[in-house]
Amino acid sequence: MYSESSARIAMHSRSFMNPEARFSRDFSVAIVDYYVKELKHTDARLLDSTAATGIRAIRYCKEAGISKATCLEINRSAFKDLRANVARNRLRSRIEPISTSIQEFANTTKVKFDVIDLDPFGSPVPNINDLLKITSDGALMMVTATDTAVLCGAQERACRKLYDSRPIHNKLCYESGARILLGYIARQAAQFNFGIEVLAAFYNRHYIRAFVLASKGAKQASESIDQMGYVGYCTGCGNVKTAKGAYPKRLECDYCGREMQFYGRLWLGSIKSGAAAAYASRYFGQSGYPKAEMRIAEAINDEIAAPFYYHIPSITKLMKARSVGVDEIMQRLSAAGYESSKTHFESSSVKSAAGIRDVRDAIENALKHKN
Ligand SMILES: C[S@@+](CC[C@H](N)C(=O)[O-])C[C@H]1O[C@@H](n2cnc3c(N)ncnc32)[C@H](O)[C@@H]1O
Ligand SMILES: [Zn+2]
Repeated sequence: MYSESSARIAMHSRSFMNPEARFSRDFSVAIVDYYVKELKHTDARLLDSTAATGIRAIRYCKEAGISKATCLEINRSAFKDLRANVARNRLRSRIEPISTSIQEFANTTKVKFDVIDLDPFGSPVPNINDLLKITSDGALMMVTATDTAVLCGAQERACRKLYDSRPIHNKLCYESGARILLGYIARQAAQFNFGIEVLAAFYNRHYIRAFVLASKGAKQASESIDQMGYVGYCTGCGNVKTAKGAYPKRLECDYCGREMQFYGRLWLGSIKSGAAAAYASRYFGQSGYPKAEMRIAEAINDEIAAPFYYHIPSITKLMKARSVGVDEIMQRLSAAGYESSKTHFESSSVKSAAGIRDVRDAIENALKHKN
């Protein structure tokens, strides 16, 4: 028997429930709670589309104010566990387990859902289109991608094929992976005339998790597509540039003049709602949550909105300089008047409104004072 927060779970095989994905589940409970209580979706109908043991739906019902949920599970033996766990947690009147696939269900049901959880093995791509058919206006979609080798650049061809995007394969890959996934969701959603607003998106261990609100309307859908763009990276100086719109023919570094590599297209809109991230961070402050999880939620909440970050060890290496502390660079940039923060995506990096010139100046000044 496995216990996690309010849920008691039994399973035939560990492959259907990963205890290491607890942060993903805890953060999702916090966001569903935010959606139900703060965004006032008190009668939200939830679909756990890849339920396995049912742990997520059980927790959303017991902890986050969800009164009605449907769980889908394609695997026969996982489905047996799901049905037994729903009964074990005394939720038979509130959770309906269905032994079927997302594809079959989405093409037959008449019901639309206000909260949809998609947590498959590997890429979520084969399921998103079908789920959008049963998404209500204003719905919360929560999507996991564990194909990080694809999204984070180790398998570039697969990323072009699945996500129609060129991935980055350096330290920027964690945020670019999240933004490629969000770009894919935005493009698919737009085909159904949904615009998206991102409540949160993070990288943890070996998965990316995205939380978006989908709003119906041709205008909303077009505005979402306007958030698509590309990111440029200079291998000469470490410069990072983003721009919305179509791919450029060429991109020159405005610091050292080299030709920059560019990647995407990807989502360049906001990847955080301040209110949702603050809510989640406070949620982890409650007793019973692991301290390490609280720190990740705080780091997500403390991040500034600037897209991407400067990986300080890569820049000092290009400068042929000694290493410097990331906190010190962040403080120097803040003191120079540039909004700056650390980032949960990569611990040796700084997000900042400053340009590469200012970052390099901050590194040089830090090194001078080290002597
Ligand atoms: C990673 S597990 C889900 C884990 C669970 N959400 C948790 O937090 O413990 C993915 C589950 O989705 C099921 N699945 C995969 N493809 C599916 C599909 N197309 N329709 C319904 N279920 C599917 C798998 O059988 C598996 O049980
Ligand atoms: Zn450059």
